[in-house]
Amino acid sequence: MMDNEFDLIVVGGGPGGYVCAIRAAQLGLKTACIESRGALGGTCLNVGCIPSKSLLNLSENFHKAKNDFVKQGIEIGEIKLNITKMMSNKEKSVQVLTKGVEFLFKKNKITYLKGKGALFSKNDVVLYQDNKKTSFKAKNIVIATGSAPTSLPGVEIDEKNIISSTGALSLNSLPKKLIVIGGGYIGLEMGSVWSRLGSQVTVLEYLNHITPGMDKEISKEFQKILTKQGINFKLNSKVLSVKTKSGITEVTYEDNITSKKEKIVADKVLVSVGRKPYTEGLNLSKIGIKRDEKGRIEVNKKLQTSVENIYAIGDVIKGPMLAHKAEEEGIAVAEILAGQSGHVNYDIIPGVIYTSPEVATVGKTEEQLKEENKDYKVGKFPFLANSRAKVNNETEGFVKILADAKTDKILGAHIIGPHCGDMIAEMALAMEFGASAEDIARTCHAHPTHTEAIKEAALAVDKRPIHF
Ligand code: NAI
Repeated sequence: MMDNEFDLIVVGGGPGGYVCAIRAAQLGLKTACIESRGALGGTCLNVGCIPSKSLLNLSENFHKAKNDFVKQGIEIGEIKLNITKMMSNKEKSVQVLTKGVEFLFKKNKITYLKGKGALFSKNDVVLYQDNKKTSFKAKNIVIATGSAPTSLPGVEIDEKNIISSTGALSLNSLPKKLIVIGGGYIGLEMGSVWSRLGSQVTVLEYLNHITPGMDKEISKEFQKILTKQGINFKLNSKVLSVKTKSGITEVTYEDNITSKKEKIVADKVLVSVGRKPYTEGLNLSKIGIKRDEKGRIEVNKKLQTSVENIYAIGDVIKGPMLAHKAEEEGIAVAEILAGQSGHVNYDIIPGVIYTSPEVATVGKTEEQLKEENKDYKVGKFPFLANSRAKVNNETEGFVKILADAKTDKILGAHIIGPHCGDMIAEMALAMEFGASAEDIARTCHAHPTHTEAIKEAALAVDKRPIHF
């Protein structure tokens, strides 16, 4: 094979693309990955999951030090916020991780092509880099170009006053007032960060509840807890306009029920109303790759697009815009290309919101089961009755397990509470193995751990929890 010829070229070096490239290289395919950002890792590592988790952790430490330590007998004097240091701490974590992916590319002998990729034909990929154009040939191509923030009609994100998640991750001073448009994953995580650091945060949400798609009982409890933490919610609120004048931004919104119009002002407005697939400049129409009405690339079960040797994964196709879903798809495609039977189980993809407490969910919600007329049982257990949560003063939230009424098979698990972002893996694994609630109830869980709340919720499915 010539130097410019590959078995596989992956366009996009985010969690979908880079993981696909690594797996393909492991399986012996000559692989290249094109990335234009200047760093590998995509939105997740550079301006998404990773920097937000860094700020969530740091802001939680700050908040605890300021509000809880004295009560716990830890006296450390005046607590001051140094945003510059906090941001540089976050940047360092990001750099270490993106460099780590570069190292993995070298280790697996993957060619890292820096620049913007476009498809010229079904086997020809063009790389644009510093006014230079280079052509490459590929037997197979994977499109993993991810997504970009959307905005509202007439609202322009300038990343100064009106910001997206990217802007909210790198503010260099504390906004006195922050308005968040959209009570979803990004709005609540970033709203939590700035609220803990001292901003007055108001969330405007179009629907009558936050976190659409989540089990309603969890979503209600979540809003109650965040309200107690100081975040102000205005539900049923349709944003009509956002305008900036002399550094102050004014948001006009309408109450969906009363049609009453209101105005509020803030130093910063975060627009977090979802993301859209990013396929700009790829030349998809020219080579006949079909997209749906939402701009997502259409794929079949094997993640193949309408052009046989071109695949698409991650945020550019349907499904939840989550890094781990993209990773699974990347691995599946690499294995399919190597003649194996890669697949993704879309029924068991966990979702986590990394607030405090965390929220984690996998499988069907109670609302979905009702809609499907499924006969189900519910087992719930509060962290208030979990000894580890109690000694750590983290007693908010509960575990909820949904199981088939006849077979006892676990259909869904929804948790709000400490460390549940890690705990949900137990439920995902159990569901992958087709476990019943009884299987979990009979599994020995270490004491004292938060995971005992899962065991107790499983016991509660059969109405026999021990500690509640
Ligand atoms: P989202 O879809 O999670 O939430 C958007 C919210 O905006 C919804 O509640 C929606 O009802 C509301 N909304 C839409 N139009 C509105 C309007 N005109 N006025 C008021 N509210 C309006 O989208 P988000 O938070 O922007 O996140 C984008 C993607 O990133 C999501 O798909 C999410 O899965 C992913 N993400 C995942 C994270 C994680 O796994 N922890 C963290 C951050 C993002």
